Amino acid sequence: MRQYRIALIPGDGIGTEVVDAAWQVLAAAAARHGFALAAEAFPWSCAHYLAHGRMMDADGLERLSAFDAILLGAVGWPATVPDSVSLHGLLLPIRKAFDLYVNARPHRLLPGVRGPLRAEDFDLLVIRENTEGEYSGAGGRVHVGTPHEVAVETSIFTRRGVERVLRHGFEQARRRSGRLASVTKSNAQKHTMVFWDEVTEQLAAEYADVQCTRYHVDAIAARLITHPASLDVVVASNLFGDILTDIGAAIQGGLGFAASANVNPGGGVPGMFEPVHGSAPDIAGRGLANPLATIWAGALMLEHLGEAAAGAAIIAAMEAVTGAGRVATPDMGGRASTAEVAAAVAAALADG
Ligand code: NAD
Ligand code: IPM
Ligand code: MN
Repeated sequence: MRQYRIALIPGDGIGTEVVDAAWQVLAAAAARHGFALAAEAFPWSCAHYLAHGRMMDADGLERLSAFDAILLGAVGWPATVPDSVSLHGLLLPIRKAFDLYVNARPHRLLPGVRGPLRAEDFDLLVIRENTEGEYSGAGGRVHVGTPHEVAVETSIFTRRGVERVLRHGFEQARRRSGRLASVTKSNAQKHTMVFWDEVTEQLAAEYADVQCTRYHVDAIAARLITHPASLDVVVASNLFGDILTDIGAAIQGGLGFAASANVNPGGGVPGMFEPVHGSAPDIAGRGLANPLATIWAGALMLEHLGEAAAGAAIIAAMEAVTGAGRVATPDMGGRASTAEVAAAVAAALADG
């Protein structure tokens, strides 16, 4: 039987609740589609940091490299550990160490889900550069605490880094609607963003069959609200993609729906799959979290592992549940718990 080794990193807050929920659905999908998922859970989190002084074990990345994929809940508990410590100790090093340069985030409304917009027929794939740019980590502070203090955070864009993520975007556009939007702020940032525009134009010449449009990030942020259906594949830098995908989440009904695949296509490394949302301290520990973002991330994981039919079956099961509208968490307007929504999706999977 085909078997995949999955590293589970539930993390903090609702991360543990949504990973439990998603695992229930993934196990049901595996049973139905004739493969096995072997999970190993890692307790890496802010609680782990407080107990051991590290977000993950010293050999954590090496251990993760032996898995076929990683399913992560959320990292961060700012009441006890600063985000600058927790995220740089766990989530961001995984993206970087495995060179997971594509962060793909689909945004569309599931049946029965009401978004905040009048336009409801959008189907977006935002591809976020995931290893460099504004998240390079280069910089520092001098004259700390004095009136002369200066803080610098340097964005680093390499030709290899920009070209490979844009190329992935063009390939996806070719497979989808043939439309690609490339996002910069080249009217204000004259080095990095002008460079990104140049690489975009070079690839646009190569992919003449793809209709490529360049947008400034402020303009496309507005367009995502006013005319989301005019967009299809959107490629953006690390920080711009981060912000645009919270807009994407908002217009698809909220952060409880938005999934994320961190991958290095063809790279022979484990991909990391996670919801777009964080640990949601305001609702954590009460069974209120919507698990669909993480369940959707699980579907993306199966697709990436080559189990496309099982991934599609999970999406269909989610659609059956949202379409019926009976089992829904509070953010969806219902009263069901995280576990009840997961159970409903698993049941729909068994019926489907
Ligand atoms: P957040 O995404 O955790 O929460 C924002 C809002 O969305 C909250 O009101 C929350 O209740 C709601 N929400 C989020 N997920 C939900 C779900 N599944 N169902 C229903 N409602 C949901 O963002 P934040 O409050 O800015 O961050 C909290 C912590 O999480 C911080 O430490 C932050 O750095 C971290 N964070 C981690 C990740 C990650 O691990 N990938 C992503 C974003 C934020
Ligand atoms: C996300 C998150 C992370 C990011 C944070 C928690 C570092 O917001 O995955 O969207 O900015 O990449
Ligand atoms: Mn984000």
